[in-house]
Amino acid sequence: MDQIGIGLAGLGTVGAGVYKHLIQNRAIISERVGLELAVRRIAVRSVGLVRSVHAPAEIITSHWEELVDDPAIEIVVELIGGIDAAYQLIMRALDAGKVVVTGNKALLAERGFEIFEKAAEKGIPIFFEAAVAGGIPIIKSIREGFIGNHIESIHAILNGTSNYILSKMTEESLDFPEALRQAQAEGYAEADPTLDVNGWDAAHKAIILASLAYGFWIGTNQIHVAGIETVNGLDVRFADRLGYKIKLLATIRTNRDDLVEAHVHPTLVPKQHVLASVNGVFNALMVRGDLVGDTLFYGRGAGQDPTTSSVISDLAQAAIWYDSGGKAFGFTPHGWYGECLPIEQVSSGYYLRLSVIDAPGVLAQVASILGSHQIGISSVIQPEGHEGDAVPLVLIIHDAPFDRMRTAVQGIQSLDCVKAQPMLLWVLS
Ligand SMILES: NC(=O)c1ccc[n+]([C@@H]2O[C@H](COP(=O)([O-])OP(=O)(O)OC[C@H]3O[C@@H](n4cnc5c(N)ncnc54)[C@H](OP(=O)(O)O)[C@@H]3O)[C@@H](O)[C@H]2O)c1
Repeated sequence: MDQIGIGLAGLGTVGAGVYKHLIQNRAIISERVGLELAVRRIAVRSVGLVRSVHAPAEIITSHWEELVDDPAIEIVVELIGGIDAAYQLIMRALDAGKVVVTGNKALLAERGFEIFEKAAEKGIPIFFEAAVAGGIPIIKSIREGFIGNHIESIHAILNGTSNYILSKMTEESLDFPEALRQAQAEGYAEADPTLDVNGWDAAHKAIILASLAYGFWIGTNQIHVAGIETVNGLDVRFADRLGYKIKLLATIRTNRDDLVEAHVHPTLVPKQHVLASVNGVFNALMVRGDLVGDTLFYGRGAGQDPTTSSVISDLAQAAIWYDSGGKAFGFTPHGWYGECLPIEQVSSGYYLRLSVIDAPGVLAQVASILGSHQIGISSVIQPEGHEGDAVPLVLIIHDAPFDRMRTAVQGIQSLDCVKAQPMLLWVLS
């Protein structure tokens, strides 16, 4: 059987999984692809490190340039992460005519436009299934499965760590810091969980999805992002009483004017909505196309084996492309859509939790400010319990543009009867 040469950059969590399973499942992969995928060189940072997988010492190097310069390598797999070295590696690989596979969502979100431009100029494909939702084949589905559709919306839970923390907060009535500690103890959160909990890991994936779905590259400054660090146990419990679960939700959709919305933030999801039952480290995406209607994808969004599954699928496709020649897969810009809707103009329902003095007339003052911005209240609860000399007041607000709602909240915050920073969350309608 003919072989195709692979240069593997990175032998960490994902790289080690890819190497191990390319060897373990060699027979079935070769059978299906019609070619043998042969790892010819591996680049790492520290050559001397003791590793969970044993690759021959003579193929390991600390210079990724050797992968790019090796004529026996046709496909370069970038699994080193980070931005600068990964960017250099991918651009040099494309220049050298190598097909690229990557799982690097941060790099694609930050510099995808330049990378895909270079790939298009060279007529070489890039495969990046592992960059979004780990083992779920969502990139192939959007790029190929839904090619005949206008994508009307994507609602997605894209960060397993945040979902695990929110699930713990819901099921065990924990506050954020304790739920984060448990996620770290279970190995579901990094020692530095910043990108996971501040929403940016999910936002990187949302940028890639939105750009693929709508055919123009969406910049990191065009997506509204908020993380779960500010969600507190009270909000989870009040949301529950009102019939919702709080999820870190990515929303990507078009409106009637074909303007594109992309935002990621904690959102109240009605309990009967299918995404409300996605718990723990799982990811899920609900994609609505004008032809296909609603579709649902569910699975593990990270971890060695699920991510390896996606990388090997990309490798197989890359090998088949290389062997047969063909249309370059990457990012295909088109002019059907072309602009993002500023977040200020995006409309949604909201959850507003206030800490107010326990006195008559408070609700009337709050309602009056909302009314003066033409914002309606859909329901109110005043749960039992004092926070010092204040009590909680929770409102569910009808759909209103975000800028109007934000201005109204600033007005409410300045009322003498409001004792703490209001908590404003989005509600999925
Ligand atoms: N982990 C997941 O579940 C997951 C899921 C989806 C996507 N991804 C993406 O996959 C990529 C890899 O993630 P990971 O978790 O496998 O990372 P990781 O465990 O930190 O592994 C990184 C690997 O890259 C090597 N490396 C780093 N800088 C290098 C350089 N300049 N030159 C050569 N080698 C270098 C490291 O070498 P040493 O071993 O010598 O330090 C290590 O083997 C990231 O882009 C990540 O976002 C990860």
